[in-house]
Amino acid sequence: MSNVFVFDHPLIQHKLTYIRDKNTGTKEFRELVDEVAMLMAFEITRDLPTSDVEVETPVTTSKSKVLAGKKLGLVPILRAGLGMVDGVRKLIPAAKVGHVGLYRDPETLKPVEYYVKLPNDIKERELIVIDPMLATGGSAIDAIGALKKRGAKNIRLMCLVAAPEGVKAVQEVHPDVDIYLAALDERLDDHGYIVPGLGDAGDRLFGTK
Ligand code: PRP
Ligand code: URA
Repeated sequence: MSNVFVFDHPLIQHKLTYIRDKNTGTKEFRELVDEVAMLMAFEITRDLPTSDVEVETPVTTSKSKVLAGKKLGLVPILRAGLGMVDGVRKLIPAAKVGHVGLYRDPETLKPVEYYVKLPNDIKERELIVIDPMLATGGSAIDAIGALKKRGAKNIRLMCLVAAPEGVKAVQEVHPDVDIYLAALDERLDDHGYIVPGLGDAGDRLFGTK
């Protein structure tokens, strides 16, 4: 079974409070999501392997470390996942970015795939699937499935807020995928919204309704 990490760093939790607040407007919401994504990226990459190199400082030779192992790839689920990509890229600027387009049918709550464009070497990359919301889990399950179908082997899932139902569903279908969250909320409501949640992440990020 995969691991679930909930980041309780005070900066992440402080910013998440204002992200949740219904009075936070689009500009501030977008900025806060970007900042939390960057802070989460710092935590998510904590276990990346490093190797030793020698570097000439202006004073002497120093044994130092550089990232080793697989290259990274970021895969936001359109559209709300886009709101977190730049924050992650601030820390991992060389990561390639693929896109999976899914929307959740409001009647069935089932995800509908409309776009997939990925780096051609995803098999060799450590991929981070990015979406602010993990509700029923259907979108994340299908997005991860779309990556695996194309050969991806090393996948992590990064979300701001999750419902326990979504976490369980992802773990059942993709037990190899670790899940990284800023918050694990109480439940889903009858419309598949996360409670207490933050509302519709895509609409709040892009100012649509
Ligand atoms: C939201 C959210 C997730 C999905 C989560 O996207 O960004 O992708 O719902 O719900 P689930 O876990 O029940 O699948 P939405 O379908 O609203 O599309 P959008 O990103 O284009 O707004
Ligand atoms: N998608 C959202 O944007 N918010 C939710 O609470 C659930 C799904």
